[in-house]
Amino acid sequence: MRNVLLAIVVLTAFLSCNKTNEVNLIPKPVSFKLRDGSFTISGKTKVKVDSTDSLAFENAAYLVELFNSKGVSCALESAINDDLLNCIIFTRTSCPDSLGAEGYMIDVNPKAITIRANQSAGFFYAIQTLRQLMPANFEKNDFRAKSLTIPYVVIVDKPRFSWRGLNLDCCRHFMNKDFVKRYIDLLAYHKMNVLHWHLTEDQGWRIEIKKYPKVTEVGAWRTNTDGTVYGGFYTQDDIREVVAYAAKRHVMVVPEIEMPGHSVAALAAYPHLSCTGEPLKVETNWGVFKDIYCAGNDSTFIFLQDVLSEVIELFPSPYIHIGGDEAPKYRWENCPKCRARLKTEKLSNYEELQRYFITRISKFLETKGKTIIGWDEILEGGRPHNAMVQAWRGIDRASEALKANAPVVVSPTSHCYFDYPVEVTNLQKVYSFDPVPDKADSAKVPLVLGGECNMWTEYAPQETVDSKVFPRLLAISEVLWTYSNQREYPEFLKRVRYHYNRLDALGVSYGFEQSAVEFKSRIGDDRKSMAVELVKGQDNLEVRYTTNGDEPTEKSTPYRKPILLTSPTTLKAAAFNNGYRVGDVFERAFMVSKSLGKPIELGFKPSEKYMGGGLQALVDGRLGTPKYNDGIWQAVQGEDIVVTVDLGSEQPINSVAIGFLQNIPSWIFLPGCVDVFVSADNSTFERIAQLDCPDSIKQQPMLIYRFNASKVKEIKGRFVRFVAHNPGPCPDWHPASGSPTWLFADEVVVE
Ligand code: ACM
Ligand code: ZN
Repeated sequence: MRNVLLAIVVLTAFLSCNKTNEVNLIPKPVSFKLRDGSFTISGKTKVKVDSTDSLAFENAAYLVELFNSKGVSCALESAINDDLLNCIIFTRTSCPDSLGAEGYMIDVNPKAITIRANQSAGFFYAIQTLRQLMPANFEKNDFRAKSLTIPYVVIVDKPRFSWRGLNLDCCRHFMNKDFVKRYIDLLAYHKMNVLHWHLTEDQGWRIEIKKYPKVTEVGAWRTNTDGTVYGGFYTQDDIREVVAYAAKRHVMVVPEIEMPGHSVAALAAYPHLSCTGEPLKVETNWGVFKDIYCAGNDSTFIFLQDVLSEVIELFPSPYIHIGGDEAPKYRWENCPKCRARLKTEKLSNYEELQRYFITRISKFLETKGKTIIGWDEILEGGRPHNAMVQAWRGIDRASEALKANAPVVVSPTSHCYFDYPVEVTNLQKVYSFDPVPDKADSAKVPLVLGGECNMWTEYAPQETVDSKVFPRLLAISEVLWTYSNQREYPEFLKRVRYHYNRLDALGVSYGFEQSAVEFKSRIGDDRKSMAVELVKGQDNLEVRYTTNGDEPTEKSTPYRKPILLTSPTTLKAAAFNNGYRVGDVFERAFMVSKSLGKPIELGFKPSEKYMGGGLQALVDGRLGTPKYNDGIWQAVQGEDIVVTVDLGSEQPINSVAIGFLQNIPSWIFLPGCVDVFVSADNSTFERIAQLDCPDSIKQQPMLIYRFNASKVKEIKGRFVRFVAHNPGPCPDWHPASGSPTWLFADEVVVE
């Protein structure tokens, strides 16, 4: 319902743009000159190409077919003669080499349309640009016309990056073959050229392997707790069909066959490939699981090499993605075969055993002419032989890949995870992404191949995928195609608003650009108050809010100016349009206390994935929400959280508190206990409290708990230190037992 409402609101805003003769191309070309007037394409227009130039010819034929399907029956002429009036010419002559394989030029003038490119992909992208020079309705299946008009333009264009991808996770939720083909069309339309097809997971194996039929007979189906069975897979014929469909649209399909982790579905089918050999079920929970392929067992490598031998027959891509992420080492550490392998291969730890594993696969694939690509964990223990890297845990992981001289595809959680809600990763945030790390050595920049957006589907069945991918895919397509000095968000947004007409015509059920309400807070100069701004997602909405815990209604206080808070407050806000609420109620809690905005010192390095908004996040007054990826929580894995607040002068301390999140399936646990110390000089500390939580909540899967104490004794001090003890590895009963746990902290409060 939420999507429908906002989509209607969005639509009415654009009707006015539709009438103008503006050109709104996404992604934006390198150079673009619009002239007065337009060229009319009719049944009399001839499409001319030299038939000996097969690359140009196949694209000219594609354009003719496209126009014919819309009712404009141009003729294809297989020679470029002197009669060049009312023509569309495809030619490779006079196209500068600098435009590369994917670049193109279009010149539309009163006499003719001339399209130049060096390679087939360039001609193909020129045609995608022509599509966007037509009225938006051109994209409707039932659009028919006697003639088409194209404005007089001169366009010179080429991409900034060669790898412009989307990762579709068809495992957590299955997407049918036609849906995948539709996504290939949508990628190509936006000049993207890689479909990273995530085909194997804990919760489902989706590709038929003739030699191992059980991977799909067993591994493609999971039985939910209510007894229902969920699943599906692609036959090898399906895969061939999709790959051929993609090739015609200049989309390379890179299959991902996960190893050594995220492999429970395969182990459920063939339990002898795991360290314990115990029977397993295809997973129904989301998370990271301790059962992974045994690295000491040669059968594992025989199986994977056999599987990959079938995979490479199906995918012409020179790259095979082998996963490599999130592989807990617990089973390996406790497995006699894995331990023996460590010894015989003279490896010093289990990260090196993973490197051995990946290197063995890489060398095998190299004999077949293929290069591996793996998630950035594959750099732990040293870069495996020849491996390419996909950086996901942060842009710094791309820097690490460059240091190791590895070609890298960049897709950090901070900007490229389209499974994250728009409240966390909005359109503007995606648009602000740059795949090249700031500090990159210029000699290494060519190793940055490009980037990808990731559509993980734990919480996204097929019918919701459009609303998560769009409109954010428009931003990533431009980030990866257009040079950064050509990009400016407000101007992009205008084109996006027009482009919705095309997405409507293409039948895309796009979601939101941003949250209907966003909270922006600022600490007052006196550090005794906060100002909270409520930013509405669209101009035509009205925001209303409450501070007493009630749900906002159309009668609640309308937001006019930043709300001044001088004490702890929970704000609830919602957007309204003509008296109707649009979207969810958004809730945020703010803490105003003596420690607000005071200088702090961290005795740990927060994870780049969970910085909470910066090094002052723990005293920024904003309280973390139940979502671990809300951008407010600050986190560290396998370590204690130590933070010292400087109150500025010695003063009475009446109470202390620090909040933590627990999300057990995601390995996030409450600390074992929290020690609180006080000091006058930041050197000698006295412990004033040891805080614990009730046993009854220790195994509750999800909660927020604030460790606090008041009036422990009459205490004065200037420096207050909190030491939250990491509870140690995930316990035996946990799916990731033995793996380091996360601590997620937010907001230290001293009163
Ligand atoms: C990943 O998101 N685990 C690559
Ligand atoms: Zn083992």
